[in-house]
Amino acid sequence: MFKKLDIVDEKDSVLRNVSKEATFPLSQDEKKLIQQMIDHLTYSQIEEYEKKYNLRPGMGLAFPQLGINKRIIVIVHEVEENTFDNYVFINPVIISNSEEIIAAEAGEGCLSVNREVEGHVPRYARVTVEGYDEDGNQIRVRAREDLAIAFQHEIDHLNGILFYDRIDKNKQFYGEHEIRLI
Ligand code: NI
Repeated sequence: MFKKLDIVDEKDSVLRNVSKEATFPLSQDEKKLIQQMIDHLTYSQIEEYEKKYNLRPGMGLAFPQLGINKRIIVIVHEVEENTFDNYVFINPVIISNSEEIIAAEAGEGCLSVNREVEGHVPRYARVTVEGYDEDGNQIRVRAREDLAIAFQHEIDHLNGILFYDRIDKNKQFYGEHEIRLI
């Protein structure tokens, strides 16, 4: 049965801690929570369930947003209408990045930030992320565009950083000639 997650609000200091590495084997509770995160994020991106369960659409969550300072992230990326790729990364690390910088033109959102925050968040256009799957096998992904932004946003959560920390107060918006807007 679907269970809507209780997501920590930005005011909670748990979001400002640097999270600790997760250790293997993961506990049953951790595995259960990961599955609930996948379900929540998937349902939030399907209009019928988004309405039915009153969910805010989101593509990523990190453990600190559930009140747990462990280095675990989940991303549910819609690749075509109602078709999703799931990424579960334990102890993720960005091992390389593009020089090119991009930003989401409409700005970023976060399931812990229940208000509109305007401004462009500069991100690497491409990142390679290494980490472990739920069984402790090493995994690696090369992400680009919105998926690259999602990985950077979620890994920031593990380091106590929220997306608006990266909005330049003196330069909230960029032009197309400065960084590529997607
Ligand atoms: Ni977030």
